Amino acid sequence: MKPQNVCVIGCGYVGLVTGACLAGIGHNVICVDNDISKVSALKKGRIPIYEPGLDQLIHTNVKKKRLSFAGSIAEGMKNAEVIFIAVGTPPTDDGSADLTFIESVARDIAANLKKYVVVAEKSTVPVETGDNVEKTINRYNKNNVAFDMVSNPEFLREGTAMDDFLHPDRIVIGAKSKKAEKIMMGLYAPLKAKFLVTDVKSAELIKHASNSFLAVKISFINSVGRVCEQVGADATRVAEGMGLDPRIGRSFLHSGIGFGGFCLPKDLEAFYYISRKVGYDFQLLRGAKEVNEDQRAYFVKKIEDALWILKGKTIALLGIAFKPNTDDIRFAPALDIVTRLQAKGARVKAYDPVAMPRAKSVVKGVTFCKNAYDAVNGADCLALVTEWPEFKTLNMKKMKSSMSHALIVDGRNMFDPDAIRALGFEYHGMGKAR
Ligand code: UDX
Repeated sequence: MKPQNVCVIGCGYVGLVTGACLAGIGHNVICVDNDISKVSALKKGRIPIYEPGLDQLIHTNVKKKRLSFAGSIAEGMKNAEVIFIAVGTPPTDDGSADLTFIESVARDIAANLKKYVVVAEKSTVPVETGDNVEKTINRYNKNNVAFDMVSNPEFLREGTAMDDFLHPDRIVIGAKSKKAEKIMMGLYAPLKAKFLVTDVKSAELIKHASNSFLAVKISFINSVGRVCEQVGADATRVAEGMGLDPRIGRSFLHSGIGFGGFCLPKDLEAFYYISRKVGYDFQLLRGAKEVNEDQRAYFVKKIEDALWILKGKTIALLGIAFKPNTDDIRFAPALDIVTRLQAKGARVKAYDPVAMPRAKSVVKGVTFCKNAYDAVNGADCLALVTEWPEFKTLNMKKMKSSMSHALIVDGRNMFDPDAIRALGFEYHGMGKAR
């Protein structure tokens, strides 16, 4: 493989993981961000996000001089052969993606274009963004320097992002020219992966459609779970049976309090917005969203049904992050659950192994605890929100002895119901009759 000079614009989750992993497989990478304090922290070796293994990978590659950080696109682009756009595309009030940062980056790229480059969108963007970025670069590209626009969506899951990058199911390259396609394939040559080369718009849609499909899958099993509870069946066993069919597969059929995070909810919303914009009401997506929101309310209702009156009761929330192995609390079900519990007059104590520093600035009126034992002390209910591995090894006898009421409402079906009941707990899972 011939090492390439790569510039990654945006030092968020996607940008940092992409930059560090590309350096890790031998390329020379500069990661750029306009947040100067973030760049200076990165230069001092401080990594702003929690992602297992990322610190180490960044430090190793900085030492090898294959990875560096810059505060300006001009500096980052100096020797770049490939530029990745990995800036945020946050949701707006109407559900569409805010593409302000992308447009501004496109103008900066144009202003600094001196020789041919491949410009690759990495952030999740609505279909046709590539066309708009290309038009914008052309508009401000005074010297008419040649470039190629490519869509190369990321499929990184928080918590396993590095592994997802290094061992991908597929690498999607949406390109218009053979030259750009070859450069992108060269970039990923060290990875053993299936490549799918498409046009730019199809590549953009693959990302939105994939995440929306995963969201639909989760809402589907959560709806199945609601029926299971009414008829005396168990959604986990139903999912096992369904999953044995290779056309369906077992993954993303875990019933619980639903999906959160910065990708699935946002991408589902943005894809629905696009469908409406082009004149199609994608009802399936609307339904998946409604089911997901209702699932959180249903979890609180389960706690309420068990305790009758929530006012004055103490609920111990285990887990705040939207899933284990991340400190990310964006669109985390926990946020909604806390608000609902507080609205009903409950007192909330919470513990999360890594997400508490972030949660403290967002979640108000919650008592943050130093560990799970501290959280359940005096609580009327243990509400399991995030299935962190360390919660699986808790001494449940000890937990029970300090609770006011031995009640568990398990939003992730993490506990073994029989074992937990044998210890004397009242237990309620999701999608399970009892
Ligand atoms: C997702 C996609 O999986 C990834 O490919 C994409 O690039 C980014 O978005 P991520 O947001 O990191 O990744 O989390 P993911 O592992 O997909 O989980 C999303 C949410 O769904 C979590 O809240 C999780 O708890 C929930 N979930 C997942 C379920 O409720 N049930 C399941 O069966 C699976």
